[in-house]
Amino acid sequence: MHESAVCRERASAYSGVQLGFIYEKTVMKKDTRIFRTGGIIGNEQIIEAARILREGGTVAFPTETVYGLGADALNEKAVSRIFEAKGRPADNPLIVHVDSKERCMDLVRNVPEKALLLMDEFWPGPLTLIMERKPIVPDVTTGGLDTVAVRMPGNEIALELIRQSGKPIAAPSANLSGRPSPTTAGHVLSDLSGRIDAVVDGGEVSIGLESTVVDMTGDIPAILRPGKITKEELELCIGDVRIAYDDKVHPESETVRSPGMKYTHYSPDSIVILVEGQHESVISRIKEMIVDFNHRGANIGLLLTEESKKVFPCEISHSLGEKEKPEQAAKNLFFGLRYLDEKKADIIIVDGSFDPDGIGQAVFNRLRKAADMIIKV
Ligand code: TXA
Ligand code: MG
Repeated sequence: MHESAVCRERASAYSGVQLGFIYEKTVMKKDTRIFRTGGIIGNEQIIEAARILREGGTVAFPTETVYGLGADALNEKAVSRIFEAKGRPADNPLIVHVDSKERCMDLVRNVPEKALLLMDEFWPGPLTLIMERKPIVPDVTTGGLDTVAVRMPGNEIALELIRQSGKPIAAPSANLSGRPSPTTAGHVLSDLSGRIDAVVDGGEVSIGLESTVVDMTGDIPAILRPGKITKEELELCIGDVRIAYDDKVHPESETVRSPGMKYTHYSPDSIVILVEGQHESVISRIKEMIVDFNHRGANIGLLLTEESKKVFPCEISHSLGEKEKPEQAAKNLFFGLRYLDEKKADIIIVDGSFDPDGIGQAVFNRLRKAADMIIKV
């Protein structure tokens, strides 16, 4: 499809006006409280946030991956408030966060030996395991599935909040459905202020991309979403693991392993064009595109590698970091998409010449899902 045709189609399908219309109709405005912990764990702020969770409220909090929007996972009303606040489709299940392996066992049954090995190796950390659920976990939390996704986050504020609440905490990423996941409390507020009870501000997260999701219910464990913990690392611990994700957004009519695969993801309001290939070819293609889009009067934002930033000093841009260090791209990706959106870029062009190995695979997965157009050079 021609670039401008894609742009028009995208603009009419996902405009912010349309999102605003849907959400404003369904959610009552509330005062969102902001708790700043100042790095002190177990302080009054966390205790107060935990009280809100215990009483059925919604609290956004930092994890090591992205900010989550939490509620008591066993309280149907509380969980339904998460779906309302995010505008999330009801069949897209939530990850339940626990503060220990023992608390996880309250929620799951027929736990495979391999799942126990993974918990010992990677928890607390950016790994979500899907297992059979016990009846105590309500349908609303699992989107009606007979499995539940569980993880123990590797962030002291998150762990203390869960501990103080005394509950398992359901928490999807704390963004409006379809938007890039939040990596700061400011991002949470720009999407959800007035729609949730509180946010605990723990500063910028350390990883920047959501956890690796692994389905443990089949004979061979299957990765449903890539993240910091890679297939190779999982295999060192438990042997064969399958990849069961791809980098497309699937149509709603399709049957998929993880409902999240069907929904628009990580999209800023701007149109995103990803240019993939070797560094020099990517740079020369981006140069051509800048001339073309400038000619059409578009406001261009660039997501660049540190190396390509030197080539485009005058454009509005954000760095994804050094191209050989994909962990920097992971940390900067959602931040950069939101930053360029705020700068009112009509079009975001992404330099996709960084290393696709390790967490780079997860970065490309999110970028390809966010992109309206992918150009391979
Ligand atoms: O790092 C993370 O995982 C963050 C932080 C807050 O913990 N959470 C997060 O949640 O990314 P969310 O809801 O944005 O993504 C959860 C993904 C979705 O794609 C969902 O479809 C999938 O996990 N999922 C949850 N439960 C599932 C289940 N029982 N079976 C298959 N997929 C499931
Ligand atoms: Mg999400």
